[in-house]
Amino acid sequence: MPDLVIKNARLVLSDKIVQAGLVIEEGRIKQIVSDPKLPQADRVIDAHGNYVLPGLIDVHVHLREPGSSSKEDWITGTSAAAAGGVTTVLDMPNTQPPTTTIQTLSDKRAIAKPKAKVDYGFHFGASLDNLDELRRLEDDIASVKFYMSVTTGNLRVDNDAVIYEELKILAKKGILATTHAENRDMVQYWLEKLKQKENPTAVDYADYRPNICASTALNQLLYLSRKAGSRIHFCHVSTREEVNLLRKNKREGVTSEVTPHNLFLTKENIKELGNYSKVNPPLRSKQDQGTLWKAIRSGVIDVIATDHAPHLLEEKEKDILSASSGMPGLETLLPLLLNEVGKGTISLIELSKLTAGSPAKIFRIRGKGAIVEGYDADLVIVDLKKEAKVENEKLFTKCGWSPFDGWKLRGWPLKTFVRGNLVFDEGVIGDTLGKEITYTKNEE
Ligand code: DOR
Ligand code: ZN
Ligand code: ZN
Repeated sequence: MPDLVIKNARLVLSDKIVQAGLVIEEGRIKQIVSDPKLPQADRVIDAHGNYVLPGLIDVHVHLREPGSSSKEDWITGTSAAAAGGVTTVLDMPNTQPPTTTIQTLSDKRAIAKPKAKVDYGFHFGASLDNLDELRRLEDDIASVKFYMSVTTGNLRVDNDAVIYEELKILAKKGILATTHAENRDMVQYWLEKLKQKENPTAVDYADYRPNICASTALNQLLYLSRKAGSRIHFCHVSTREEVNLLRKNKREGVTSEVTPHNLFLTKENIKELGNYSKVNPPLRSKQDQGTLWKAIRSGVIDVIATDHAPHLLEEKEKDILSASSGMPGLETLLPLLLNEVGKGTISLIELSKLTAGSPAKIFRIRGKGAIVEGYDADLVIVDLKKEAKVENEKLFTKCGWSPFDGWKLRGWPLKTFVRGNLVFDEGVIGDTLGKEITYTKNEE
């Protein structure tokens, strides 16, 4: 007998939406069949005519362990994921210590394993002196991340020769490079100017890190990766200049992502958010925001990823220069997007491609990212009619705040399943554990 049947569902497949049920056995989707043909099962869940999406894959999160567990830990961060319909997270390497050696990677695995509520994978970090570690890497990481300028965690590789050498190592191994593309010299130059300014504000912070900081870095990396022959994925594209560069230079192996904060917030929100708006790259203009929305619809940008970067209230309340940069996003991504589905801005199929289908393809995640027979039963049941406010008090993230606090949104996740296990059920987190993902080989 199957372990689980989901009936009365509208399934969001990669090219169409069908009214059908799901038969789930041993964590996988065994069958997609019309409701009358559904077999008996140990457990039957009625979706009540709601849509079922493939669980979201968030390719860019900072879960902060080891080293900064006061901000977030693997339990709170992955609970936030489950509550947001996110069934797989890829964790960033700027922890303390950073994930730049085989040893620190294995230490991080040991931390995640007994805590994670959803499935997970790891990004490895490139540094100025870990070429030998990169040479020893195996096929068990999501990517190697290049921070071109300094940000939380002090992990960076700001030397083009080293970047080029490292990209060549990755090219040989077929490992994807991911990048935080901001030009170190430019960022530094204007930061010094900002420090000389009297009473700098959060608006000044964004203004002193202009678009060209990001676009010059992206341009340089496009060139270096082409010369090195490596695949490259650009994190948090935030400007129209970057979108233009990507449009002109789109080739196989060049992909990119955009954050919900750059899609839903602009410089106009900074006054009301104060230091909570501080993030790298910063919030941009309305015009940039418009270009980003066009780019996700036209396929120039492939993925929406949160860059979930939690910091505590007291760390955000400091003066603007000392305040931490980054904002949480795991619990609000899906409701924000579902609200847009209701408005007709984007379709459920587009949403699902940007948050599950394309992430799985780009990061070569095995058996995930779509509702397909044989794939993992990573699913989220969403209610497009449910209206609720984002409330800081209800969040699972340890940082306890969201830049979207108070936003009234229509469209919320009701239930989240990871490999058939119910990990989020209308406000309650389940007690099953996530597993590390596996990757398809280059040849497959
Ligand atoms: O604002 C940011 N915060 N940008 C980053 O690149 C890192 C992140 C963090 O880890 O806090
Ligand atoms: Zn970044
Ligand atoms: Zn990040």
